[in-house]
Amino acid sequence: MKNGQQWKDIHGNYIQAHGGCILKYNGIYYWYGEHKGADNCPNSRRVDVIGVSCYISKNLVDWEYKGLVLEAVKDNPESYLHPSKVLERPKVIYNAKTQKFVMWMHMDSADYKLASAGIAIADKPEGPFRLLKVKRPNNQELRDMTLYKDVDDIAYLIYSTDHNNTISIDKLTEDYTDLEGSYTFAMVNQMREAAAVCFHGNKYYMVTSGCTGWKPNSTLYSTSDHIMGSWKLIDNPCEGENYRITFYGQSTYIFEADNRLFLMLDHWNANDLKCSGYSILPIEFDEDGIMHINWCSDWDGI
Ligand code: GAL
Repeated sequence: MKNGQQWKDIHGNYIQAHGGCILKYNGIYYWYGEHKGADNCPNSRRVDVIGVSCYISKNLVDWEYKGLVLEAVKDNPESYLHPSKVLERPKVIYNAKTQKFVMWMHMDSADYKLASAGIAIADKPEGPFRLLKVKRPNNQELRDMTLYKDVDDIAYLIYSTDHNNTISIDKLTEDYTDLEGSYTFAMVNQMREAAAVCFHGNKYYMVTSGCTGWKPNSTLYSTSDHIMGSWKLIDNPCEGENYRITFYGQSTYIFEADNRLFLMLDHWNANDLKCSGYSILPIEFDEDGIMHINWCSDWDGI
């Protein structure tokens, strides 16, 4: 697969899983993301909500479409899932205690003023997911967001808040379907979004983009000794040509495969969002724990 371009599934159809995430469960990789398979709304840089799609693969290259795991609700304009709304960056984690798959996503009104989280659960990874609630976490605005499940199985919601000025890191309840109540801030007044989190060595790493809508900008990463500790801004981890515009992409998720960490990027095509591309790039760390991300023209999976 060519990084930065649109990718096709095993049936030859373009993959619609933008702003996505990858979950490994029972030896299978599940890729969830925004289905944007429609034309942009007239004179607009948005696509009506279609739903959250799911693809499965064993090698991260041959993807089979499993359909929409959470679908738009077309007949009720009041529904948070009505096509006229916004549903972005769905992330799914597995809760071993409840044996449920828990999805959090950015749910919004078309003007992005609702700025809330949607929480949905499913019994199986291929869904269907049931929307439980839509709320502002700890009464804070939420726009770009991700989930991070720590080694102790405690999970966190990490999101841009306060008009995208600051990142908030909020602890989830044991069943992952709500907020436990404690939270902390990172990159205060730095205007970062598209957060993706991982752990390496003895530190947590958070990759973020700047706030320029669908246009690419510089990735920066921060580190912290504790996920809810004090985060320190380090540098741009991207190297080589186009490193200052994240190789024309924007971060969406970090996942582990074969004991290596990989960064997923979206390559947004603002005027025709359904034609946006993807890439998956290996993340390297040197002996000092410095993060390095280099462009690779091909993604060959594992
Ligand atoms: C981006 C954000 C996307 C989407 C877009 C809307 O900055 O990362 O998820 O919200 O803005 O313009």
